[in-house]
Amino acid sequence: MAETIMDLREVPRPAAYAEIKEQMRLVLDGIDDPIAGMATLAALLHGALGFLWVGFYRVAKPDELLRIGPYQGSLGCLEIPFGKGVCGTAAAERRAIIVDDVNLFPGHITCDARARSEIVVPVFGPSDELTAVLDVDSDETGSFTDEDREGLEEIVQWFRTVA
Ligand code: SME
Repeated sequence: MAETIMDLREVPRPAAYAEIKEQMRLVLDGIDDPIAGMATLAALLHGALGFLWVGFYRVAKPDELLRIGPYQGSLGCLEIPFGKGVCGTAAAERRAIIVDDVNLFPGHITCDARARSEIVVPVFGPSDELTAVLDVDSDETGSFTDEDREGLEEIVQWFRTVA
């Protein structure tokens, strides 16, 4: 397989996410492994949209602890308790969170000092259980809008189809 990741930085976000969703479907055809899905999606989002950091924190202990999963970017923090930082808050509240300026989010966990804004989207499995969160970080403030939330929420529906 020699798939090339397209540069979608100049493409309107809804169209870019539709393209990434289709690429993910093609690359993962016949694969029902969530870790393979996380690795593929992290590479696609990081490569196509040029984000600073893209990756997953997996539920290691339900309602207690998140642990790092597949990601692209600089070294991520290994573990985040539920309720801590943006990822832990999104996990505890099972909802997407957009942070325009990480310096204004109380308790933000700094893994890469260049991070300025971020979006975290919950990931659910086939039984509607929280399995992970998807964390996307940018080195510019205000990088994410509801278009990103909608696009990413749509893409992570893939994880509902795999055990
Ligand atoms: N931004 C996260 C921490 C994880 S790193 O940015 C990779 C947070 O505050 O939840």
